[in-house]
Amino acid sequence: MNMNEFIAAMPKAELHIHIEGTVSAKKVLELAERNGVDIPYASEAEIVAAQDYSFPALENFLDYHYMCSSVLRDGRDVYEITRDFLEKCRFENIRHVEMFFDPQQHIERGVSFDDLMEAMMTACQASEVSTGLIMCMNRERSLESAMEMLDLADKHREDIIGVGLDSYEEGNPPIKFQEFYDRAREDGYRLTAHCDCDQKDAVKHAHQCAHDLNVDRIDHGLHVLDDPELVEVVRKREITLTMCPTWRPSDPEPRRLKALREMLDLGLPVCLNTDDPEEFASRYLTHMMQSVQQKGNFSAEEMTQFMRNAFRGSWIGQEQRAIHLTELEAHLEAYLKQN
Ligand code: ADE
Ligand code: ZN
Repeated sequence: MNMNEFIAAMPKAELHIHIEGTVSAKKVLELAERNGVDIPYASEAEIVAAQDYSFPALENFLDYHYMCSSVLRDGRDVYEITRDFLEKCRFENIRHVEMFFDPQQHIERGVSFDDLMEAMMTACQASEVSTGLIMCMNRERSLESAMEMLDLADKHREDIIGVGLDSYEEGNPPIKFQEFYDRAREDGYRLTAHCDCDQKDAVKHAHQCAHDLNVDRIDHGLHVLDDPELVEVVRKREITLTMCPTWRPSDPEPRRLKALREMLDLGLPVCLNTDDPEEFASRYLTHMMQSVQQKGNFSAEEMTQFMRNAFRGSWIGQEQRAIHLTELEAHLEAYLKQN
């Protein structure tokens, strides 16, 4: 087994993936047609060509991302994209995946919270892959809207494992959602929040996540490295950093590769994720991990460490976690014996 085969066959977990970012260009066109939605793209090639997120990156990416997800108009659409993504996961040897969904967006387009949950859960229950759903709040929206989502989620408590915070970060600090996070914790949800790369006040936002919101994970979290105190808190409290090393136009981004190396060397619990696999060139987890391994020159042991961190940072039961970790260690051992 060579390194690429080792990575392909590795038992995997993914903790940072937005279900709305898994819609292929082909599917965007199909749904636009089926639902009569006007989009500014006439072909798959045009959709892919639009994936060039130059400065200011996050905003440009999100504008594109929301344009593509605007074709999702009913439960059937959401069911189909969830089913298709989970089928991909099976092919990638992903044993467990925790998926973000943006309820405010779907509701705005006419899909009720209940229909949304039914669509995703039908796909999840039919899949061999173990799944967890994370309800993400769009941070440019109001606290009141987020609190309403908690009300709507009440009757689906068993099917939603955690809450998160995503979308346009500048001017929308984590602290804006303190009340939301306090109640979510009381309601028994696990907590995470995006701290995207190169955002204004990035270190301050990471501080708020760790100290005020008291999150279990930080999504991305590259700027934790900019502050030794934060590094210490993340290490001590084992706050998993769900890094996504890919970005346009360079894929994976050299600076993110360097950060991954630094995080591993510091003993931080960092793992590898695709974020929005249909919207970045490196696509799904296996291919992304293979390019990270090659371009960052990571060893088999180091690639396994990323995956140990993913299983450890996941929100599954202890027993299930132990089974996956045992399988992962056996996989590494088999590779090392041959090489
Ligand atoms: N929504 C989808 N992907 C995102 C990201 N990387 N950051 C913020 N919001 C997102
Ligand atoms: Zn994300």
